[in-house]
Amino acid sequence: MPKLLPYQLEKLWILLEGISGIIPSIPQKTDLEREIYAVALEQECTPLELIQAWKADPQAQSLKPILQLLTISETHFYRVPAQMQALEQEILPQLLERAAVKRCLRLWSVGCSSGEEVYTLAILLEEVAQKMGIALGQWDIEIWGSDYNFHNLQRCRQAIYKRWSFRGTPEHWKDQYFKALHTTLEPSFDHAWQVADRLRRWVRFEHLNLMAPQWPPLPLSCDLIVCRNVTIYFNAERTQGVYQRLAQRLRPLGWLLLGPSDPPPNEVSVLHSGLKRRFFSGAVMWQYRALNHELKHELNAPSLALESPSGIRIPSSIPPSIPSSHLTDLTDYNPISLEQDALDLTETQQITPESTLELEVWHLPLQQGMQALERQDWEVALLNLRQAAFLQADHPLLHLLLGQVWIRLEQPKRAKAALSQSLLLLSPRDHEEPLGWGETLRVGEMREAAGALLTSLEALI
Ligand SMILES: C[S@@+](CC[C@H](N)C(=O)[O-])C[C@H]1O[C@@H](n2cnc3c(N)ncnc32)[C@H](O)[C@@H]1O
Repeated sequence: MPKLLPYQLEKLWILLEGISGIIPSIPQKTDLEREIYAVALEQECTPLELIQAWKADPQAQSLKPILQLLTISETHFYRVPAQMQALEQEILPQLLERAAVKRCLRLWSVGCSSGEEVYTLAILLEEVAQKMGIALGQWDIEIWGSDYNFHNLQRCRQAIYKRWSFRGTPEHWKDQYFKALHTTLEPSFDHAWQVADRLRRWVRFEHLNLMAPQWPPLPLSCDLIVCRNVTIYFNAERTQGVYQRLAQRLRPLGWLLLGPSDPPPNEVSVLHSGLKRRFFSGAVMWQYRALNHELKHELNAPSLALESPSGIRIPSSIPPSIPSSHLTDLTDYNPISLEQDALDLTETQQITPESTLELEVWHLPLQQGMQALERQDWEVALLNLRQAAFLQADHPLLHLLLGQVWIRLEQPKRAKAALSQSLLLLSPRDHEEPLGWGETLRVGEMREAAGALLTSLEALI
């Protein structure tokens, strides 16, 4: 068998990197060279002929064992606890809240290896939902795992794991989310556990080479993409290309989680992709900040000029000027820190006040708050409207809506504070001025609505 010359080997490494994105390490090169001679022997051709054949057809069957050697499949459950805690404590609760109306979530682990990362997401999602009192039975949930290595995908689908996969995993996981196979299978079967069926129904696996010019549909619009320890083997240009493509698969305000040692998106990627870095304790996440038109689509609204908000009845008999006795002392009024035990929105959203001036961002929680008002789901309405108020503190409509919610929640003092804030914000504006958010509602009408609500509160306080 004629051996490959150094320059021919160089060409082989370049070809393999072009196909897989992976830069072969020195030990891998030794194994790969050995394997190419074995494949050539089996195929009864020379190694050079093989290389020619692979160049012409990168999907060739004979290339598979070579590419398997290139991929490093190291993984385990609950890998990098600080990142998992950020998902548990911040990201997943936020995603569940945001999806409360549509009840639809799409998560994707890219380069998922043997699947531990995918099932970790499923377990965390179930745990977080349980803690929040959310029953996921009726939800449309898909957790996707994709990988380049076919053997890995087979293991993903089997969902059977041994001790090594559980290193660093919370103690209760094995009992709660797996069934022990060694109790039912023959005793010689090494200790092994299979993921519980109720979690497996959420997961889907698909072959994907990140270098492929076309990606399969997978989820086109994800709430969370996890791509850890994958691009670490790629060169800088390919890495950034992958990030930009992943960003295109995120929904507005969706999250991308990279591994702590992965190269971050560079300035060009950030510019092209709309990804913004957010810091959590012990973890960095990348959030896709939507463009205005995408957010409109996300809101499912043909235009951001929304109709007069439902639930506000504009009374005709109330005089436009509000008696000063109606106004409450606003020194303590802060819509986002009204309860000690309430969510700390700055931490939950990881939005700094400076970054909140983008007008489009607050429309999403506002819309969801209004939908919740319509459903008379006061708690969800409150949560969303407070998020919106955090993002856009000086819009009178938000405080008016918050006032309504507090009335429903039988908190008249808070309702009075919110309504007074709304009136205060309206006071410098002209009676006939449109509210700047919905052609149908004018400042005067809003004043009257707030005044009417305040009057109705007088009796209660
Ligand atoms: C080290 S594992 C990471 C597993 C998991 N994400 C984690 O962090 O625990 C890297 C995975 O990336 C996959 N991979 C490498 N190159 C890829 C490519 N071009 N397209 C898709 N997956 C790839 C490998 O098959 C391997 O399973």
